[in-house]
Amino acid sequence: MENIKRVRKAVIPAAGWGTRFLPATKAMPKEMLPIVDTPTIQYIVKEAVESGIEQICLITSHTKKAIEDHFDRTFELEALLEKGGKTEELRQIREIAEMVQVVTVRQQEAKGLGHAVLCAKAFVGDEPFAVLLGDDVVFSDEKPCLKQLIDVYESTGGSVLGVQTVAHENICKYGCVDGEKIGDRTYTVNDMVEKPRPEEAPTDVAVLGRYIITPEIFEKLENTAPGAGGEIQLTDALRALAKEQSMYAYDFVGRRYDVGDRLGFLQATVEYALRRSDLRDSFGAYLKEIAQTL
Ligand code: UTP
Repeated sequence: MENIKRVRKAVIPAAGWGTRFLPATKAMPKEMLPIVDTPTIQYIVKEAVESGIEQICLITSHTKKAIEDHFDRTFELEALLEKGGKTEELRQIREIAEMVQVVTVRQQEAKGLGHAVLCAKAFVGDEPFAVLLGDDVVFSDEKPCLKQLIDVYESTGGSVLGVQTVAHENICKYGCVDGEKIGDRTYTVNDMVEKPRPEEAPTDVAVLGRYIITPEIFEKLENTAPGAGGEIQLTDALRALAKEQSMYAYDFVGRRYDVGDRLGFLQATVEYALRRSDLRDSFGAYLKEIAQTL
């Protein structure tokens, strides 16, 4: 399509309190919870980079300094590893800081996901951009989830929500899409309902932590009144945007984990460990042994 700008920038909101994962998140950001040996947010940044993103804005807060440090250089540690001849470890930690250009913006108060995205207004400017939630990890052994959404954006020019169909009784945990299926995996979005009761949900299509959004969202966010819990909801601004522009939802291919939830974190830990060639055999044997005792 003509006149479609490339999606170069991504925003990763990571300033929430993480109350579902207390007490671990009292002093440690939930986005730094390790899945095997890698912080959750590193998987997310990697997905963005592998999708062609060139600049990332992390939305953090005063309790999230560890995230800022993780994407910075650590010269003392590098010198130590170099001296000890630990070349593989050295390569790994340098790679994190060199992966992509990362800037951070502080959200001074956790006033909701919509407010967190609004904090990136100056960073984004007048371009379409990606949003990846800092505690939602998606495994895909083919095209990265975000790249799948970027491809839909490039063929339609409209904002794209990453979605999957969930069990009817679980739709009450998510933002729900009200729209029509127009392709194998694509829907038009007419409206959205945040956490509907199952009997009131228009579909079982749930919004799951990945978005491509046009820059007109910022004007909508600025005019969105605080909703539930005094938070500015991204869903409310997206609903307003969907009334003025075409918006799409794409049922992405991939296994998604909500790492900010205890069960989601445990599932991610087990499944990522089983995908690792250095752990699959020993950890798999251990799991089989444990499973027999259940
Ligand atoms: P969540 O709703 O999962 O985050 O937001 P939360 O509020 O930290 O979690 P709980 O429910 O209390 O456990 C999804 C993403 O948006 C970020 C979070 O850090 C998370 O990565 N977020 C949320 C912000 O950046 N700012 C906010 O004000 C709220």
